[in-house]
Amino acid sequence: MARKKIALIGAGQIGGTLAHLVGLKELGDVVLFDIAEGIPQGKGLDIAESAPVDGFDAKYKGANDYAAIEGADVIIVTAGVPRKPGMSRDDLIGINLKVMEAVGGGIKQYAPNAFVICITNPLDAMVWALQKFSGLPANKIVGMAGVLDSARFRHFLAEEFNVSVEDVTAFVLGGHGDDMVPLVRYSTVAGIPLPDLVKMGWTSQEKLDTMVERTRKGGGEIVNLLKTGSAFYAPAASAIAMAESYLKDKKRVLPCAAYLNGQYGVKDMFVGVPIVIGEKGVERIVEVSFSAEEKAMFDKSVASVQGLVDACKQINPALA
Ligand code: APR
Repeated sequence: MARKKIALIGAGQIGGTLAHLVGLKELGDVVLFDIAEGIPQGKGLDIAESAPVDGFDAKYKGANDYAAIEGADVIIVTAGVPRKPGMSRDDLIGINLKVMEAVGGGIKQYAPNAFVICITNPLDAMVWALQKFSGLPANKIVGMAGVLDSARFRHFLAEEFNVSVEDVTAFVLGGHGDDMVPLVRYSTVAGIPLPDLVKMGWTSQEKLDTMVERTRKGGGEIVNLLKTGSAFYAPAASAIAMAESYLKDKKRVLPCAAYLNGQYGVKDMFVGVPIVIGEKGVERIVEVSFSAEEKAMFDKSVASVQGLVDACKQINPALA
């Protein structure tokens, strides 16, 4: 069986990390695409030269021409600019919307059958625009945010409880902004929901609230530390989990920005919800019930995404 082809559009910090992980996990051959000349070629060659040491087989190609992504099975998009200290994800909208137009055109021409994962921020609006520009069916394009936000929450919880990260599950829904919705009721340690763990004395409500807030601001915390860009290891790992579920038909249940057409009362928007990813792409959208308080938080987050989508329509009237 021929190896799968994985195209990475954007060969910056996240793109390079993705390329390395694809090799280490032997998910397929890699095409790194970027507008910067030399960067995708250089990173591809560097990683290919690590393969004999680590013992994996994967071909690496760097390119500045969209023809190189032809026939890709999976495409992960990180093209654009990341934020710097003092910027919100929303500040990136003007530049990155133009980038999505170019990327969408490339996908439409060369890889219309790919499963596409968008990482570029502001995520929920950029994946929405990328779907419009590429014309991909709604089940073949998703945004990566919920896996990352949940992973951040899981990390904080595992540290607090001094247990393995593997036994902590967490559930973060809504838009990928500071009003995202960590659902404590659906987050557990080995199946025990967080509110029960508070009752059992594992932590206090106050500490739990602090971890929820730290999760919401998790991206900003890294930006303030790095100063020159934003997080890349955890975002790359999160997108790889999504790609792997598609390529291996694992049917994992993962929180992702998916196209909603009435689910959760939302129409024509991408918002973070639990979905099943398998060989057909988005195979199911899981609709959980909310308490009144959770619903209010979710609605607030959706309203923020709507604001970003409206801003995209104003910048580019062709999207309206
Ligand atoms: N087409 C292709 N690549 C592009 C384009 C374009 N039109 N415009 C910019 N790029 C490339 C840049 O040359 C750079 O190599 O995108 C890459 C982005 O890499 P980084 O600046 O290192 O950013 P990174 O940390 O990888 O984040 C990428 O993901 O999490 C989001 O907010 C983040 O939007 C940002 C994106």
